[in-house]
Amino acid sequence: MSVEKGREITISVLKFNPRSKVSKPHYVDYKLEETPGMTLFIALMKIREEMDPDLSFDFVCRAGICGSCGMVVNGKPALACRTLIANYPEGKLTLLPMPAFELIKDLSVNTGKWMDGMSKRVESWIVSDHEVDISKMEDRIEPDVANETFELDRCIECGICVASCGTKLMRPDFVGPVGLNRVARFEVDPHDKRTAEDFYELIGDDDGIFGCMSLLACEDHCPKHLPLQNKIAYLRRKLVALR
Ligand code: SF4
Ligand code: FES
Repeated sequence: MSVEKGREITISVLKFNPRSKVSKPHYVDYKLEETPGMTLFIALMKIREEMDPDLSFDFVCRAGICGSCGMVVNGKPALACRTLIANYPEGKLTLLPMPAFELIKDLSVNTGKWMDGMSKRVESWIVSDHEVDISKMEDRIEPDVANETFELDRCIECGICVASCGTKLMRPDFVGPVGLNRVARFEVDPHDKRTAEDFYELIGDDDGIFGCMSLLACEDHCPKHLPLQNKIAYLRRKLVALR
């Protein structure tokens, strides 16, 4: 019995090692056969195993959970493990590392370092006026408030909204949609006792809430479909009154 062959696809990758004195940015084309249900992650693994062991890219979970595999696919930031090759009928994918983050090599960027800086900048932790006694039951909160907090907490820190953000490319210190979403998460959480004035101190400038140009690409590309623009607009309305 003959097995039907899949179509040939071409994956073109911008390769560069910034730590090498001889490396220069250049594209390498890899041709391979598409298999049923093939994701970009599977294709990259095949390339690394069979064609180019030197190719660098990141992954951990393969399931859209860890946020490691972000890259720019035909001009749009996306998770490689959630990108189906079948959705590219022309069979040609061009891959670049996400901008706005430190390049490690090829498609691998240091989102962790950036997220750490962002978390410190927006003081991404509960600020409360009383010590938490972990032997006691947690404070009760309204289910709809808990749901809203959990909704915003679904962020996987993939950095795709940052790589999609026009403001971030113009303002290197912009805290990014993920940072503003983080503030929105603590603003809605009744465990956090910070006031609007406290949040204004953190993000009340053009590198924070007033820098966003509402281009919407962050929300368009967020793999978790977080309501980034709604939350940014809400925070901006709340904090502009303090200007
Ligand atoms: S807000 Fe969305 S796109 Fe941005 S880091 Fe979180 S999950 Fe990724
Ligand atoms: S490998 Fe974890 S999100 Fe893609």
